[in-house]
Amino acid sequence: MNPPQVALVTGANSGFGLALSRALAQKGFKVYATYRSPRKAGFLWEISSALPVYPLLMDVNRDPSVQRAVKQVLKREGHIDVLLNNAGFVMAGFWEDLSDKDIREQFETNVFGLLRVTRAVLPSMRRRGSGKILNIGSIAAFTAVPGLGAYSATKHAVNALTEALRLEARPFGVDVAEINPGEVKTSIVQNTRRGERVLSAKSPYTPFTRQFEAFAKERFVHAAPVEKLTNVVLKALGDSPMKRRYLVKPQDYGVYYLRRFMPDSLWEWALSRMFPWSRFPQKV
Ligand SMILES: NC(=O)c1ccc[n+]([C@@H]2O[C@H](COP(=O)([O-])OP(=O)(O)OC[C@H]3O[C@@H](n4cnc5c(N)ncnc54)[C@H](OP(=O)(O)O)[C@@H]3O)[C@@H](O)[C@H]2O)c1
Repeated sequence: MNPPQVALVTGANSGFGLALSRALAQKGFKVYATYRSPRKAGFLWEISSALPVYPLLMDVNRDPSVQRAVKQVLKREGHIDVLLNNAGFVMAGFWEDLSDKDIREQFETNVFGLLRVTRAVLPSMRRRGSGKILNIGSIAAFTAVPGLGAYSATKHAVNALTEALRLEARPFGVDVAEINPGEVKTSIVQNTRRGERVLSAKSPYTPFTRQFEAFAKERFVHAAPVEKLTNVVLKALGDSPMKRRYLVKPQDYGVYYLRRFMPDSLWEWALSRMFPWSRFPQKV
């Protein structure tokens, strides 16, 4: 019998990370499920009593924390077969309402955090000549909606770095891919942060921000259950080699192909139907 494969999941205390840790363990993986906040790790510890899930502290923003966790897994297991770069959050706000600090924090986790963990894990995969890295992107990698510009920029960056890393790591036997989900029911809305100046009385964008937030809330009412995503991830990890990209729902395919093949003007027209306030003011 083959020994179980070893997976490392970031941001595993809620949402995708928690569901993926459970689903992978049920499929026979040994899962190192990392979290940054002990007070939020209750569910993880709960599932770890019944499944091969090993909760481990890791803040992807902090180099020593990432190094410590990866070293611990490598010391115990000797290798990591699968890295799921999942940790991330949304910094909401119109660009002018976001400070440099807000935007840096968004990139620190969603882009530099992902790179930090990848850098810590990749050398061991490369030396072993095998391994899979799956980055959790978003459909925000293909288009940017107003109010989520910073988040979209990070997911565009994840898209680009996945595309490059995929070919760079391939000669060493390491397979890299990306999954681009649209709205899925997790804690992402509750965990969304707003930039410092967002919704301030002084901001000229406040009425638009309110409308955008109501729109986003409504979209999440119809979000897909998390199992849709876990099924696609399990399928991706079963592929050898993995495809460049995995989409989750029919609507996500719609966004991907329409944005790719529609002229910009037509795409903007469609967005301006969704966000009527985003048009030029009528001249009188
Ligand atoms: N849900 C969706 O509709 C959707 C769609 C497309 C893409 N995504 C992407 O999916 C990923 C997971 O999001 P989710 O929907 O599962 O949201 P979630 O329930 O809010 O989970 C996000 C996870 O990331 C963790 N995290 C944030 N910053 C971290 C850090 N510095 N170090 C370690 N962990 C950190 C959070 O930990 P704390 O609880 O401690 O904050 C949490 O465990 C994100 O990359 C997100 O952009 C989600």
